[in-house]
Amino acid sequence: MTINEIRQKYLDFMQRRGHALTPSASLVPEGDATTLFTSAGMQPMMPYLLGEKHPLGPRLVDSQKCFRSQDIESVGDNRHSTFFEMLGNWSLGDYFKKEQLKYFFEFLTDPNKGLGLDPSRLFVTAFEGDGQIKKDTETIEIWRDLFIRANLKNVDEHIFTYPASKNWWSRASVPEKMPVGEPGGPDSEVFYDFGVNHRFHESSAYKNGECHPNCDCGRFLEIGNSVFMQYQKNSDGSLSELPQKNIDFGGGLVRLAAAVNNDPDIFHTSIYDPIVKEIEKLSGKSYEDEENQPPMRIIADHLTAATFLIKDGIFPSNKAQGYVLRRLLRRAAVKLHFLMGGREGIIQLAGITSSIIEIYKSIYFVKDDSLYVQGAIANEISRFEKSLDKGIKELEKKTDVSGKDAFDLYQNYGFPLEITTEILAQIGKSIDTEQFQKEFEKHQELSRTASMGMFKGGLSDHSAIVTAYHTATHLLHSALRIILGTHVSQKGSNITAERLRFDFFQPEKISDDQIKSIEDLINQKISEKLPVTRAEMPKEKAIAEGAMAFFGQKYPDIVSVFTIGEEPNHFSKELCGGPHVASLAELAKIKVVKQESLGADTRRLYLQFV
Ligand code: ALA
Repeated sequence: MTINEIRQKYLDFMQRRGHALTPSASLVPEGDATTLFTSAGMQPMMPYLLGEKHPLGPRLVDSQKCFRSQDIESVGDNRHSTFFEMLGNWSLGDYFKKEQLKYFFEFLTDPNKGLGLDPSRLFVTAFEGDGQIKKDTETIEIWRDLFIRANLKNVDEHIFTYPASKNWWSRASVPEKMPVGEPGGPDSEVFYDFGVNHRFHESSAYKNGECHPNCDCGRFLEIGNSVFMQYQKNSDGSLSELPQKNIDFGGGLVRLAAAVNNDPDIFHTSIYDPIVKEIEKLSGKSYEDEENQPPMRIIADHLTAATFLIKDGIFPSNKAQGYVLRRLLRRAAVKLHFLMGGREGIIQLAGITSSIIEIYKSIYFVKDDSLYVQGAIANEISRFEKSLDKGIKELEKKTDVSGKDAFDLYQNYGFPLEITTEILAQIGKSIDTEQFQKEFEKHQELSRTASMGMFKGGLSDHSAIVTAYHTATHLLHSALRIILGTHVSQKGSNITAERLRFDFFQPEKISDDQIKSIEDLINQKISEKLPVTRAEMPKEKAIAEGAMAFFGQKYPDIVSVFTIGEEPNHFSKELCGGPHVASLAELAKIKVVKQESLGADTRRLYLQFV
């Protein structure tokens, strides 16, 4: 069965059970500034999971394009990719556990209407319960019943329970991490058992441990997850029932195909197969030769992701989504360069997009996309190709590569550190990443002083006030968490010479009294003329000391931390590049001049010096 057939089978199966088909949303979330990419099928469904009526009714089905940049380091093995399609069905306050598990089991095992998988290969999980939410015995009973009806022996050996870390789903993972207002719930995953007679199992670091569905030994592959989305986080940290009980189901399309093939390598499925063949042609190397598999998988995945991202309107750049795209393309280019033994021609990568578009064309692309996407990729790669050659030559010349060398490559040739590290690994060298980080920060310091006009003799007024507002941002963040609660987290900020604008997670409107308390607290600290100090330390140490960091943001191993106030009673401590004033004595008093609401759970405050 091809991927296209499996997708169609699922969509038909669910439509016959009363689900309305909805198209995939864009990979770039609309109207949601908190995430860069759509990474789960439920993301575009958020308003409906929280109770808004969906125009197509309470039963929906789709196949959603997803991109998970956090999985980039895992790509190269047999089962991870940054881009994937998630099959999804939703009940918005309609059916619940019993129907959901029955539907999915039937889809997996029915030889005519579904995929015809052998039930004895299926292993399932349920939430084991914690202090707040009890064990999900209902799910266990439903699975027992389904397995018994399918004449499975040793039914109980196919059902496992796990804590929230494995069997709870929300966009922010476990209940403790869920922000106020976030929906979530226990879930039930289905794993396919490939057995232990394949080389992914043999080469796994976990193969001698105790084996169970979540043990990562390569025997089991998660193919679907039914989330029983019935809770919402309260401001006191507890969970309460959502007004409606929802089902959020997500199934990995390509993983289902791997199960149907009974082959744990997703790159052997019908979508990757033609792409891998193209890479073999270009490089003259064989995928069946094991050492070629990681780079070929990385190229196949990254180019697929790039093709979809460009289609959804992203262009390679140095910012946000564009930067992620740029790194995907550069990484694929480096991998191909070495696969080709350093021969010229990585530009041909762009041609592979035609086969990617061909595979997905009936669903996600139109004919003309090919030219457009190829053009964007060719343009980016040709710019990078020149610097790649020069950069590699420089690296090869050196016997020792210092952090400073790596930084120069970054400056001169646009090699992100991980690209340099990969090239060095290929040529058997390594670098001191800590030293690189120091150079990086020194450079930031330099460009900051330059942009502040220091070389022209002293700070210009404009820069001084921007710096002061920057420090005020930290004061506001801490004050909000003290007055409103620690659920407050910064979503964004913007500074001009006139004001500070600050967006943050906070579901309720802030009262006038609360605004007054926030202002008073900040002004109190300003009148205390607290010192502002900067320190460099390992990221883990900073977090352990309670420094605030942005949720979901990646930080280097060595970070700079700004502390306002004396230890141990600091008022604020944040991971931040600066710049900041040296003492709050440099700040005028502040005033909150405006409050706005940006959707259900985000507030915006404007603050000015008075
Ligand atoms: N939202 C669930 C997931 O992404 C289905 O696993």
